[in-house]
Amino acid sequence: MTTSNSIKIIKGNIIFTPTPEEFMITEQGFIVIQDGCVEGVYKSLPSMYSGIEITDYSDKLIIPGMNDLHCHAPQFRNLGMAMDKELLPWLDNYTFPEESRFKDEEYAHSVYSEFVREIWKQGTTRIAVYSTVHKSAALQLMELFENAGLGAYVGKVNMDRNCPDSIRESAEGSLADTRELLEAMANKDSLVKPIITPRFVPSCSDHLLDGLGKLATQYGTPVQSHLSENRGEIEWVKELHADSSFYGEVYDRYGLFGQTPTLMAHCVYSDEQEMSLMRSRGVIAVHCPTSNMNVGSGMMPVRNFLDAGIRVALGSDISGGHTCSIFKTMVYAIQISKLLWADSGKQTAFLSNSEAFYMATKGGGSFFGMVGSFEKGYDFDALIIDDSELNRFGYTLEQRLERFIYVGDDRHILHRYVQGKLIEEPAI
Ligand code: GUN
Ligand code: FE
Repeated sequence: MTTSNSIKIIKGNIIFTPTPEEFMITEQGFIVIQDGCVEGVYKSLPSMYSGIEITDYSDKLIIPGMNDLHCHAPQFRNLGMAMDKELLPWLDNYTFPEESRFKDEEYAHSVYSEFVREIWKQGTTRIAVYSTVHKSAALQLMELFENAGLGAYVGKVNMDRNCPDSIRESAEGSLADTRELLEAMANKDSLVKPIITPRFVPSCSDHLLDGLGKLATQYGTPVQSHLSENRGEIEWVKELHADSSFYGEVYDRYGLFGQTPTLMAHCVYSDEQEMSLMRSRGVIAVHCPTSNMNVGSGMMPVRNFLDAGIRVALGSDISGGHTCSIFKTMVYAIQISKLLWADSGKQTAFLSNSEAFYMATKGGGSFFGMVGSFEKGYDFDALIIDDSELNRFGYTLEQRLERFIYVGDDRHILHRYVQGKLIEEPAI
């Protein structure tokens, strides 16, 4: 028997996307939450719930929390700078030197605390994030997310070639540290979990990829990496692996391409073979539009991925990307899709608001379980949006959401919930 103690009722203007095609909108509706999960959304409250206290958010919007499926926490200090190089020299000149500083635990703690607070601030409730090669920094990042009450897959990065000595691991050392982290997190009941994170093919030897694939299978751990982001990078992968017919095949050979749940960031230049394998393996393509523009990578043809039946999520890709806001990431995704639409002679349909919203909520959320929707059984991860300042002229609820996404910001996010729990600002 459930008791009323485990039931919460929240009232307001409820908006979510059960499908990419349209918003489901309940004006002045009720969400019944039981043990952190949505029991139902109602226009009028069923009598069985009468007598239970209602948290009334009056005219505010209630929407699912944002899911950021690709982000680099140790690049947070570089946010909004170092935009004058493309991927490979950008890594060498700016990113690798910054990441090498995370050997220092105090430095890692100071940057990661600020980072976690920013993620909270921007309304991201779940994230898949890279740390650095350093085990201690990865553990700190996990602990900070745990303390914050946010959901996170945290990856200790693996790299044993083509990077500065200061952050190059031996394959054996990298595998041993990764195993240790998997063991440390193995039986924990937590919203924070490890994820296997070979940085990308050029920075991992065959031996390392092979060992990581075996760990993923043994522990049933998900995988995240980069894929077909930049033309120079793809050429380099071809040189390094002349026997592979496409980039993703290298990951696949080692059990790192959908054998366990897998995120592949960017996919700007994936060919048909690569896309076909992504579809059949259920690999999620993570679209990172801000990064693709800033680092000059190109335009991911997101419509082709959707048409091919590939799951697509959104990522901030800090600090290739310059904003932690997944709302702004939605806007850039729509804008890029419009450039592709214009370029295609209006043949390739651009993204609708509901499609972009779906990617940020239910699409990306699927990586974390039943997350990103208010359908029955979903975790109640939600944002309460006070857009009264943006609503002076009177708009429909759908217009209000669109305006918040385009011109709103963190000042309009009143509250964040994860699994039904109100999440306060993390302490620094
Ligand atoms: N490919 C390998 N490492 C990185 C990284 O840190 N950022 C981006 N955008 N691409 C990468
Ligand atoms: Fe990245």
